[in-house]
Amino acid sequence: LACAVIAGCGQGQDSDQLVVGFSQIGSESGWRAAETRVAREQAEARGIDLRVSDAQQRQENQIRAIRTFIAQGVDAILLAPVVETGWDAVLAEAREANIPVVLLDRRIETADEDLYLAAVASDAVEEGRVAARWLAEEVGDRQCGVIELQGTVGASVANDRREGFAEIVAGNPNLTIVRSQSGDFTRSRAKEVMESLIRSVGGPNICAVYAHNDDMMIGAIQAMTEAGLNPGEDILTVSIDGVPDIFRAMAEGQANATVELTPNMAGPAFDLLEAYLDDGTAPEKWVRTDSPLYLADTAEAEYAQRRDRY
Ligand code: AHR
Repeated sequence: LACAVIAGCGQGQDSDQLVVGFSQIGSESGWRAAETRVAREQAEARGIDLRVSDAQQRQENQIRAIRTFIAQGVDAILLAPVVETGWDAVLAEAREANIPVVLLDRRIETADEDLYLAAVASDAVEEGRVAARWLAEEVGDRQCGVIELQGTVGASVANDRREGFAEIVAGNPNLTIVRSQSGDFTRSRAKEVMESLIRSVGGPNICAVYAHNDDMMIGAIQAMTEAGLNPGEDILTVSIDGVPDIFRAMAEGQANATVELTPNMAGPAFDLLEAYLDDGTAPEKWVRTDSPLYLADTAEAEYAQRRDRY
């Protein structure tokens, strides 16, 4: 099955087993750990030999991993790109070696879209819009100062989630972003950032917190609670991912809303790769995952369903 179409592609052409290299960003969030776990499960269910390389948040480690995968002659590469720019040279090397690359969960900026086969990702601009629309509705006629906790600087999802949220805020005179700072998609960094923002902005001036992921929101909730504030009641919260911990916080009344990002990015990626390598079926360039909003009313049930799956 593997590599029926791509002349000279990797080890899989000599056996039935597909060999796929996965350059993963790291394990900065619960969502990221779940994505890696689901990728391994999906690979195992399909009999794919998946080789995961953890880049510990560094682009240079990802570039090195891709070069190693090329040298190993893998059949395909999955890449979750930590930042948006700087991929063209290494992707050209993969193309030169006839190894298709599928982007997972983040996108890249490139002059040549043919450098990758497809991307499996959400519409992160829309995620920001979904979050802001919910907040605008919730706030109604009140004036509301919002703290924004951004993801990793230079990551497509941080840029896009910021853009979508800002677009809706710009059209709503009741919402103002009072501070916007990076918490690097981690709980610990977001907690520190939130502590200093509470000091500089003042708790009573914070009406809402928007975090680019749930883990940062959990860190922010800790900071707010320790400062004697009441997130989920006096301070509205909305974040992105849909990990079990945010549903628990929502069920306990400390958080209000989350926009789901499925951790199953590898499943659709393997589907399109298998079809492509089998008979050349051209995939959709962007396989777009959904971005549904979840509120406290379903939080308990969602937590119960998710806690063992993440
Ligand atoms: O690229 C997806 C984002 O990266 C997730 O929202 C976040 O939790 C992760 O670290």
